Amino acid sequence: MKKIPLIDLKAGFEPIKDEVMKAIESVFSTMNLYIGPNVQALEEEFASYCKTKYAIAVGSGTDAIHLALLSARIRRGDEVIVSPNTFFATVEAIAYIGAMPVFVDIDPVTYTIDTFLIEKKINSKTKAVVPVHMYGQSANIKPIMELSEKYGIKIIEDACQAHGAEYHNKKCGSIGDAGCFSFYFTKNLGGYGEGGMVVTNNHDIAEKVRLFRNHGHKSKYEHSVMGYNNRLDELQAAILRIKLKHLDNYNENRRSIAKKYNALFGSTPLILPKETADRKHVYHLYVVRTPQRDELQEYLNERGISTGIHYKVPIHLQEACRVYGYKYGDFPETEKACKEILSLPIYPELKDNDIRYIVDAIKEFYSKK
Ligand SMILES: Cc1ncc(COP(=O)(O)O)c(C=O)c1O
Repeated sequence: MKKIPLIDLKAGFEPIKDEVMKAIESVFSTMNLYIGPNVQALEEEFASYCKTKYAIAVGSGTDAIHLALLSARIRRGDEVIVSPNTFFATVEAIAYIGAMPVFVDIDPVTYTIDTFLIEKKINSKTKAVVPVHMYGQSANIKPIMELSEKYGIKIIEDACQAHGAEYHNKKCGSIGDAGCFSFYFTKNLGGYGEGGMVVTNNHDIAEKVRLFRNHGHKSKYEHSVMGYNNRLDELQAAILRIKLKHLDNYNENRRSIAKKYNALFGSTPLILPKETADRKHVYHLYVVRTPQRDELQEYLNERGISTGIHYKVPIHLQEACRVYGYKYGDFPETEKACKEILSLPIYPELKDNDIRYIVDAIKEFYSKK
């Protein structure tokens, strides 16, 4: 039976293998293993890609959000607004500080925070909003910027799924006070291990993230704040520099695959992802929606097609979040989406005949209904 993975890391590695192996050898030949020339170059190249003044490499996307919040002076007891439809790490990073996540439901078309529900949740304790650019499409940032100005609250973008995505022709991550990226190996720009980046135009935030990521290390033997070990290593940076050169191509391939899926699924009852006119979606995930999700997932699994659910349990209903006192029914759009969404295989090297096989299997599923 044919087997189609959700993401094919080997297919992504093959075309860049020689370049990557050379880069790894070059790092080993110097044994300069952390915050060296590759990390510095990656920071410059990524800042230039995002058109921000600063980029500071860190150990993961979770570190990026945590350090960005901390550097934007979010503190214990502050409230931070976020949607419950995200990867758990977004909320963990808020919790690390001792701040309170305050959830706001999603817009069911883009699966990102419903910006028109935010203002009702703002009070004197509200210090930040963390819009998450879900699945590779930007949240609706403009109304959040307006609230930020009106109430003096910070915007820390979670762009961990949105490398190269755009909102009003600006790169996701470059619009708020800081933008946070993950280089986890499944991401549109992923290393072969862990990694992350904070981008910002704010000098103070940039300097603080730089201090925090490396034990508060100001100069040799001097530590000016209590920091963390949140460094990116040279090997990952060397690999990411190679992959960054291909990021736009990877994203164009993903967009083209999404376009093919959209055209071929036109006649099925599936609800398809919608790219809004003011945003550029980079399809980290291609998420469809159907009330028969579990049945369809099983059907595809039996035909060798891997799928995913991003995510099955809304954050406010996670056991770890019980302390915040939310209950089922608090965020109906998120709760409904979590029961109906299904991520289909998408990666830059996905072949036309595999797309066809997936589409045929789904059409066959519906023909039997
Ligand atoms: C939306 C979102 N936020 C945060 C993270 C955390 O990134 P990392 O796994 O690199 O810590 C991820 C990655 O999985 C993510 O998808």
